[in-house]
Amino acid sequence: MPVGTQATVKGITPDQLAAFGSRIILGNTYHLTLRPGDALIAELGGLHRFMSWNGPILTDSGGYQVFSLADVRKITDAGATFKSHIDGKILDLTPERAVEIQQNLGSDIAMVLDECPPAKAPDAVMQAAVDRSIRWAERCKAAHTRKDQAQFAIIQGGLDIKLRQRCAEALVAMDFPGYAQGGFSVGESPEEMAAALPECVDVMPTHKPRYLMGVGRPQDLLAGVASGIDMFDCVMPTRNGRNAMAFTNSGPVRLRNAQHRRDPAPLASDCACYTCQHFSRAYLHHLFHVEEMLGPTLVSLHNLAFYLDLMARTRSAIAAGRFAEFHADCLARWSGNA
Ligand code: GUN
Ligand code: ZN
Repeated sequence: MPVGTQATVKGITPDQLAAFGSRIILGNTYHLTLRPGDALIAELGGLHRFMSWNGPILTDSGGYQVFSLADVRKITDAGATFKSHIDGKILDLTPERAVEIQQNLGSDIAMVLDECPPAKAPDAVMQAAVDRSIRWAERCKAAHTRKDQAQFAIIQGGLDIKLRQRCAEALVAMDFPGYAQGGFSVGESPEEMAAALPECVDVMPTHKPRYLMGVGRPQDLLAGVASGIDMFDCVMPTRNGRNAMAFTNSGPVRLRNAQHRRDPAPLASDCACYTCQHFSRAYLHHLFHVEEMLGPTLVSLHNLAFYLDLMARTRSAIAAGRFAEFHADCLARWSGNA
């Protein structure tokens, strides 16, 4: 899922998103309730109409964003009280309010409110966060009324596999239509995540979507798929793209580097995206050098096309029964050993 935090995938129009194969995008409860407000979006016909995206939208619940962006004042069983990172206003986010906001936005998939501690939080903090996330999931389920919206639960527990399994067991008993692993990419190494993932995903129902939140690099996505993950979201393609960093099958390319100044070659010779079909590395280097807004757009577009193409090729490889081979081949290519 390309990330469209503020009702826009930064720098990319919806028709561009559709053109390179985006099927579903992600929006954020926290940002949209602060600005322009979920009531205003509901008044204007919901998030799809507001941003003119006709495909599915998944919204995150705001819990993670409150902990990472806002100044959290108080967190109790009732919910989180925080200071807005925009104007300092004190606001409350309860499980019921997180559901209400997402029902106002009218997303197709809504996430429950969860508590996501740093990966290296003390055991007692992690256990309390899991217990609270379970209670909040229960309240989110009770508050949820929209029949045209699916609500997914979020498993927490850090790198403690037993704790994650306990959390999953409690949430699975509540019978949500989909499940996510949260609390990854929050301070642990990619190797620690890859090592923990298989046993964590093993306890998620295989007949329902399995989503890994906020991950990650191309190699992290394939590690997730190898463990059984079906869905991902990550800001990397767009955030790195805005910073002139491009993902390619030969590894990352930094377009600000002087080596690209007179290079007539496309960003990636094996890429069918609009950027690679029309522009040289020299031109992209120039755009970033003079700080033109088309630079971030063109490299974000390429990166999103690269990620979506990687997932399309992954689906084909799985369907053809050759995922393991595909996985090994990708890792060899990206590290320059193919
Ligand atoms: N995005 C990335 N990680 C998380 C998480 O643990 N919880 C939520 N709600 N969103 C996330
Ligand atoms: Zn491209």
